[in-house]
Amino acid sequence: MTSKISHKIKKRDNANDVFITPLGLAKIHIDLHDIKEGEVWLDPCKNDGSYYNQFPNNVKKDYCEILENKDFLEYDKKVDVIIQNPPYSMLDLWFKKNIELNPRSFSMLIGVGNLTARRIEWCENAGYGITKLKMLKVWKWYGMSYIVVFEKDKKSIMSIDRKVWK
Ligand SMILES: C[S@@+](CC[C@H](N)C(=O)[O-])C[C@H]1O[C@@H](n2cnc3c(N)ncnc32)[C@H](O)[C@@H]1O
Repeated sequence: MTSKISHKIKKRDNANDVFITPLGLAKIHIDLHDIKEGEVWLDPCKNDGSYYNQFPNNVKKDYCEILENKDFLEYDKKVDVIIQNPPYSMLDLWFKKNIELNPRSFSMLIGVGNLTARRIEWCENAGYGITKLKMLKVWKWYGMSYIVVFEKDKKSIMSIDRKVWK
């Protein structure tokens, strides 16, 4: 899938997109992934580095962060794993960019309501199944959140019934 990057990054209200992940939670998220030595792991929105700083030592690490003029939506290197707490104002573009980079796995910490059928289907159509789903609560963040892990060529643990039942 290609993503024509027409995002409005320069007009965006930054502050609304900055939610720092508690270190312990980022570690739990990271630990949901298999570590394959030498692979490239990307934190696409690093900020203080809750994720990036805790990536394992035996992988190659890379990051983006718009506050450092490293825009994930313009990133074009080959990566194996993408782990992130994404900016919530552009989740459609963010899902498409993860898919476009074609990692073996990508995962996100997102609000429960943000894991929509449409986004899951984009991932499934690109060959990604949901292999792990963890629900949790972060103080002050709206509602419950999920850590959702997508892996390429893996069967999803969930299915979507698109019939509208009456
Ligand atoms: C929800 S915060 C998460 C920060 C950090 N990863 C953490 O978990 O603590 C999202 C971050 O994405 C950054 N961001 C927003 N748009 C971006 C873009 N296009 N490319 C890279 N980073 C971006 C924001 O500046 C913010 O730091």
